[in-house]
Amino acid sequence: RKLVVLISGSGTNLQAIMDACEDGYIAGEVVGVISNKPGVKGLERAEKAGIPTAVLPHTDFDTREAYDAELQMVIDSFQPDYVILAGFMRILTPAITEHFAGRMLNIHPSLLPKYKGIKTHERALAAGDREHGVSVHFVTAELDGGPVILQARVPVFKGDEVSDLQERVHEQEHRIYPLVIQWLCTGRLMLTDKGAVLDNEVL
Ligand code: GRF
Repeated sequence: RKLVVLISGSGTNLQAIMDACEDGYIAGEVVGVISNKPGVKGLERAEKAGIPTAVLPHTDFDTREAYDAELQMVIDSFQPDYVILAGFMRILTPAITEHFAGRMLNIHPSLLPKYKGIKTHERALAAGDREHGVSVHFVTAELDGGPVILQARVPVFKGDEVSDLQERVHEQEHRIYPLVIQWLCTGRLMLTDKGAVLDNEVL
Protein backbone atom coordinates (compact mmCIF):
# COMPACT_ATOMS: atom_id res chain seq x y z
CA ARG A 1 0.00 0.00 0.00
CA LYS A 2 1.22 3.48 -0.86
CA LEU A 3 0.97 6.33 1.62
CA VAL A 4 1.29 10.07 1.14
CA VAL A 5 1.87 12.02 4.34
CA LEU A 6 0.95 15.70 4.72
CA ILE A 7 2.84 17.80 7.26
CA SER A 8 3.40 21.39 8.36
CA GLY A 9 6.11 21.02 10.98
CA SER A 10 8.48 18.85 12.92
CA GLY A 11 7.14 15.56 11.59
CA THR A 12 7.68 13.28 14.57
CA ASN A 13 4.55 11.37 13.55
CA LEU A 14 5.88 11.17 10.00
CA GLN A 15 9.09 9.72 11.45
CA ALA A 16 7.17 7.12 13.43
CA ILE A 17 5.23 6.15 10.29
CA MET A 18 8.33 5.96 8.09
CA ASP A 19 10.09 3.85 10.74
CA ALA A 20 7.08 1.53 11.03
CA CYS A 21 7.04 1.02 7.24
CA GLU A 22 10.79 0.49 7.19
CA ASP A 23 10.75 -2.23 9.86
CA GLY A 24 7.68 -3.97 8.42
CA TYR A 25 5.21 -3.05 11.18
CA ILE A 26 3.12 -1.24 8.55
CA ALA A 27 2.52 -3.19 5.33
CA GLY A 28 3.07 -0.11 3.21
CA GLU A 29 5.49 2.55 2.14
CA VAL A 30 5.56 6.32 2.27
CA VAL A 31 5.81 7.36 -1.40
CA GLY A 32 5.62 11.10 -0.88
CA VAL A 33 5.59 13.82 1.76
CA ILE A 34 3.89 17.15 1.14
CA SER A 35 4.28 20.25 3.30
CA ASN A 36 2.47 23.57 3.07
CA LYS A 37 5.48 25.16 4.78
CA PRO A 38 8.99 25.28 3.31
CA GLY A 39 12.03 24.44 5.39
CA VAL A 40 10.34 22.42 8.13
CA LYS A 41 12.05 19.59 9.99
CA GLY A 42 9.62 17.02 8.62
CA LEU A 43 10.85 17.64 5.06
CA GLU A 44 14.40 17.03 6.24
CA ARG A 45 13.30 13.73 7.80
CA ALA A 46 11.71 12.62 4.51
CA GLU A 47 14.74 13.61 2.46
CA LYS A 48 17.01 11.74 4.84
CA ALA A 49 14.86 8.65 4.29
CA GLY A 50 15.08 9.11 0.50
CA ILE A 51 11.37 9.88 0.15
CA PRO A 52 10.23 12.38 -2.52
CA THR A 53 8.90 15.65 -1.11
CA ALA A 54 6.78 18.50 -2.40
CA VAL A 55 6.23 21.95 -0.90
CA LEU A 56 2.94 23.63 -1.67
CA PRO A 57 2.79 26.99 0.16
CA HIS A 58 -0.79 28.03 0.85
CA THR A 59 0.37 31.66 0.62
CA ASP A 60 0.70 31.21 -3.16
CA PHE A 61 -3.07 30.77 -3.53
CA ASP A 62 -5.96 33.23 -3.29
CA THR A 63 -8.61 30.84 -2.07
CA ARG A 64 -8.86 27.65 -0.06
CA GLU A 65 -10.61 26.01 -3.03
CA ALA A 66 -7.73 26.85 -5.40
CA TYR A 67 -5.21 25.55 -2.89
CA ASP A 68 -7.05 22.31 -2.32
CA ALA A 69 -7.51 21.68 -6.05
CA GLU A 70 -3.74 21.91 -6.53
CA LEU A 71 -3.08 19.89 -3.37
CA GLN A 72 -5.38 17.15 -4.63
CA MET A 73 -3.47 17.03 -7.93
CA VAL A 74 -0.11 16.83 -6.21
CA ILE A 75 -1.36 14.06 -3.88
CA ASP A 76 -2.86 12.13 -6.79
CA SER A 77 0.38 12.43 -8.76
CA PHE A 78 1.89 10.04 -6.18
CA GLN A 79 -1.01 7.60 -6.79
CA PRO A 80 -1.38 6.76 -3.10
CA ASP A 81 -3.84 4.31 -1.58
CA TYR A 82 -4.09 6.42 1.58
CA VAL A 83 -3.43 9.99 2.64
CA ILE A 84 -2.15 10.58 6.16
CA LEU A 85 -2.45 14.01 7.80
CA ALA A 86 0.32 14.26 10.36
CA GLY A 87 0.34 17.75 11.82
CA PHE A 88 -0.96 19.30 8.60
CA MET A 89 -2.25 22.62 9.90
CA ARG A 90 -4.76 23.48 7.17
CA ILE A 91 -8.53 23.32 7.11
CA LEU A 92 -9.58 21.26 4.09
CA THR A 93 -12.57 22.01 1.84
CA PRO A 94 -15.37 19.46 1.31
CA ALA A 95 -14.26 18.88 -2.31
CA ILE A 96 -10.94 17.39 -1.25
CA THR A 97 -12.23 15.51 1.81
CA GLU A 98 -14.90 13.91 -0.40
CA HIS A 99 -12.35 13.01 -3.07
CA PHE A 100 -10.34 11.10 -0.44
CA ALA A 101 -13.31 9.82 1.60
CA GLY A 102 -12.35 6.65 3.46
CA ARG A 103 -8.75 7.05 2.34
CA MET A 104 -7.66 9.98 4.52
CA LEU A 105 -6.74 9.87 8.22
CA ASN A 106 -5.95 12.61 10.73
CA ILE A 107 -4.48 12.60 14.21
CA HIS A 108 -5.80 15.20 16.64
CA PRO A 109 -4.31 15.93 20.07
CA SER A 110 -7.47 15.70 22.19
CA LEU A 111 -10.05 13.18 23.27
CA LEU A 112 -12.52 14.01 20.50
CA PRO A 113 -15.25 15.21 20.41
CA LYS A 114 -13.59 17.45 23.02
CA TYR A 115 -11.44 20.35 21.82
CA LYS A 116 -11.69 20.35 18.06
CA GLY A 117 -9.38 22.89 16.39
CA ILE A 118 -6.17 24.36 17.80
CA LYS A 119 -4.65 24.92 21.28
CA THR A 120 -6.02 21.66 22.66
CA HIS A 121 -3.44 21.31 25.45
CA GLU A 122 -4.06 24.89 26.59
CA ARG A 123 -7.80 24.26 26.72
CA ALA A 124 -7.48 20.96 28.61
CA LEU A 125 -5.30 22.68 31.24
CA ALA A 126 -7.60 25.71 31.49
CA ALA A 127 -10.60 23.42 32.02
CA GLY A 128 -8.81 21.57 34.82
CA ASP A 129 -9.19 18.23 33.03
CA ARG A 130 -7.64 15.29 34.81
CA GLU A 131 -7.18 13.36 31.62
CA HIS A 132 -6.30 14.32 28.10
CA GLY A 133 -5.29 12.41 25.00
CA VAL A 134 -5.22 11.92 21.29
CA SER A 135 -7.59 10.62 18.61
CA VAL A 136 -7.11 9.12 15.15
CA HIS A 137 -10.09 9.61 12.87
CA PHE A 138 -11.22 9.40 9.27
CA VAL A 139 -11.30 12.82 7.65
CA THR A 140 -14.69 14.17 6.60
CA ALA A 141 -15.83 17.68 5.69
CA GLU A 142 -16.35 18.54 9.37
CA LEU A 143 -13.13 19.82 10.97
CA ASP A 144 -11.84 17.18 13.40
CA GLY A 145 -15.33 15.69 13.22
CA GLY A 146 -14.93 12.47 11.23
CA PRO A 147 -15.51 9.01 12.78
CA VAL A 148 -13.00 8.28 15.54
CA ILE A 149 -11.01 5.06 15.13
CA LEU A 150 -8.71 4.92 18.15
CA GLN A 151 -7.88 7.11 21.13
CA ALA A 152 -5.18 7.07 23.77
CA ARG A 153 -5.63 8.69 27.16
CA VAL A 154 -2.96 10.37 29.25
CA PRO A 155 -3.18 11.67 32.80
CA VAL A 156 -2.94 15.38 33.58
CA PHE A 157 -0.84 15.97 36.70
CA LYS A 158 -0.91 18.95 39.03
CA GLY A 159 1.53 21.58 37.81
CA ASP A 160 1.62 20.27 34.25
CA GLU A 161 2.42 22.79 31.55
CA VAL A 162 1.53 22.73 27.87
CA SER A 163 4.93 21.24 27.03
CA ASP A 164 4.37 18.37 29.50
CA LEU A 165 1.05 17.49 27.88
CA GLN A 166 2.51 17.90 24.43
CA GLU A 167 5.26 15.42 25.22
CA ARG A 168 2.97 12.92 26.94
CA VAL A 169 0.47 13.04 24.07
CA HIS A 170 3.16 12.79 21.39
CA GLU A 171 4.45 9.58 22.92
CA GLN A 172 0.99 8.06 22.50
CA GLU A 173 0.59 9.48 18.98
CA HIS A 174 3.66 7.59 17.88
CA ARG A 175 2.10 4.35 19.12
CA ILE A 176 -1.47 4.67 17.90
CA TYR A 177 -0.99 6.28 14.48
CA PRO A 178 1.21 3.49 13.03
CA LEU A 179 -1.20 0.93 14.49
CA VAL A 180 -4.26 2.45 12.81
CA ILE A 181 -2.38 2.86 9.53
CA GLN A 182 -1.42 -0.79 9.75
CA TRP A 183 -5.11 -1.73 10.16
CA LEU A 184 -5.96 0.36 7.11
CA CYS A 185 -3.18 -1.13 4.98
CA THR A 186 -4.21 -4.69 5.77
CA GLY A 187 -7.87 -4.04 4.94
CA ARG A 188 -9.10 -4.48 8.51
CA LEU A 189 -10.38 -0.93 8.72
CA MET A 190 -12.77 1.00 6.51
CA LEU A 191 -15.21 3.85 6.45
CA THR A 192 -18.81 2.90 5.72
CA ASP A 193 -22.09 4.79 5.95
CA LYS A 194 -22.35 3.46 9.51
CA GLY A 195 -18.98 5.01 10.40
CA ALA A 196 -15.55 3.51 11.00
CA VAL A 197 -15.58 -0.29 10.84
CA LEU A 198 -12.78 -2.53 12.17
CA ASP A 199 -12.96 -6.26 11.43
CA ASN A 200 -16.70 -5.93 10.69
CA GLU A 201 -17.39 -4.17 14.00
CA VAL A 202 -18.71 -0.61 13.92
CA LEU A 203 -16.48 1.41 16.23
C1 GRF B 1 0.58 16.40 16.70
O1 GRF B 1 0.35 16.75 18.02
C2 GRF B 1 -0.71 16.09 16.01
O2 GRF B 1 -1.65 15.48 16.83
C3 GRF B 1 -1.19 17.44 15.60
O3 GRF B 1 -0.02 18.11 15.21
C4 GRF B 1 1.10 17.57 15.90
C5 GRF B 1 2.12 17.17 14.89
O4 GRF B 1 3.35 16.81 15.47
N1 GRF B 1 -2.23 17.36 14.60
P1 GRF B 1 4.54 16.26 14.58
O5 GRF B 1 4.81 17.28 13.47
O6 GRF B 1 4.14 14.93 14.01
O7 GRF B 1 5.70 16.15 15.50
